[in-house]
Amino acid sequence: MDAPRPAKTRCAWHPCLSGLLLQLLLAVCFFSYIRVSYDSPGPLAPSAWERAESTLQSPAQRPLLILLWTWPFHIRVALSPCSQILPGTADCELTANRAVYPRADAVIVHHWDVMSNPRSLLPQSPRPPGQHWVWFSMESPSHSLRLAALDGYFNLTMSYRRDSDIFSPYGWLEPWSGPAVHTQVNLSTKTQLVAWVVSNWRPNLARVRYYEELKVHLPVDVYGRGHLRLPRGDMMATLARYKFYLAFENSQHPDYITEKLWRNAMEAWAVPVVLGPSRKNYESFLPSDAFIHVDDFPRPQELAQYLLELAKDEQRYLTYFRWRERLQPRLWSWALAFCKVCRKLQWDQRYQTVPSVAAWFT
Ligand SMILES: *[C@@H]1O[C@H](CO)[C@@H](O)[C@H](O)[C@H]1NC(C)=O
Ligand SMILES: *[C@@H]1O[C@H](CO)[C@@H](O)[C@H](O)[C@H]1NC(C)=O
Repeated sequence: MDAPRPAKTRCAWHPCLSGLLLQLLLAVCFFSYIRVSYDSPGPLAPSAWERAESTLQSPAQRPLLILLWTWPFHIRVALSPCSQILPGTADCELTANRAVYPRADAVIVHHWDVMSNPRSLLPQSPRPPGQHWVWFSMESPSHSLRLAALDGYFNLTMSYRRDSDIFSPYGWLEPWSGPAVHTQVNLSTKTQLVAWVVSNWRPNLARVRYYEELKVHLPVDVYGRGHLRLPRGDMMATLARYKFYLAFENSQHPDYITEKLWRNAMEAWAVPVVLGPSRKNYESFLPSDAFIHVDDFPRPQELAQYLLELAKDEQRYLTYFRWRERLQPRLWSWALAFCKVCRKLQWDQRYQTVPSVAAWFT
């Protein structure tokens, strides 16, 4: 699929022709060039032309076209214009229609959906020049299989890791933009002690082993399959009655701090008790007095004692909410992640290859 322009260039720079011959050749080239541009295009021509266009036009003139190779987990999600989600960003055209592949400026590959067989589930057609492939995962390395099969395919990474090309955390804190709206926890709603919602119960996981020891010294209400029932729509109202929430991650990796903290604990105004990466790592996302880390205590028994004391000491308990006077928690969404790709491509169109996702994503 040669675009017409390279043919013209070859003619113009041919070194060994006399002036007359060169002129003749140039004329032939020129007319064939004109003919190609004005004839009705053959079946392959449109994408070639649109590609040529995409290198000539700046994003301001034509919205960047971003292909979602799959809907995440094969479930359609709500999208919104990126100019609304990230003010100051020009809109991109986001679609999951694979027919646009030949003219897409970027393809976002959600790792989970291709990891059963990356070689056959990744795009198979040749990659159009200039197209960026974005590797995307919100799952931890423990649940990301066959990463080595991706060596050399991708141009950008997007994940919860801070050192991703496109950083997409599960949540973050942001200063109140106007007057602080909601800063005081309502203690009279906090009638229960400790909650934990767990969907994937595997006895050998660190979080389950920790819980087994903790529950000997402290009553913990466990919700989820095989435990207390938690109707979907009632989850936040239920958790809001608890003073503490066990935001225990399913695996321990740098920056892997999920909606267990950002939604279940933060949105419910329950003080998060975290098990995941180190305290230092949490402190790059949160003030040090916004959470309790299991590593702050030598054993689960001491953590249990501390929580029981804190539950009775109103003034001390309230110190875990002080940060809310300055900051508010914000939650991640799929639409936001896709718009971050949109914004990144507008800022930065550099050519680069990620040599090995596997070597980095550990
Ligand atoms: C606090 O919660 C209680 C019980 O749900 C409710 O009756 C009361 O109005 C709340 N107070 C404030 C200030 O929101
Ligand atoms: C993306 O990576 C591929 C594979 O390494 C490379 O051939 C291509 O030039 C890169 N494209 C961009 C836009 O960086």
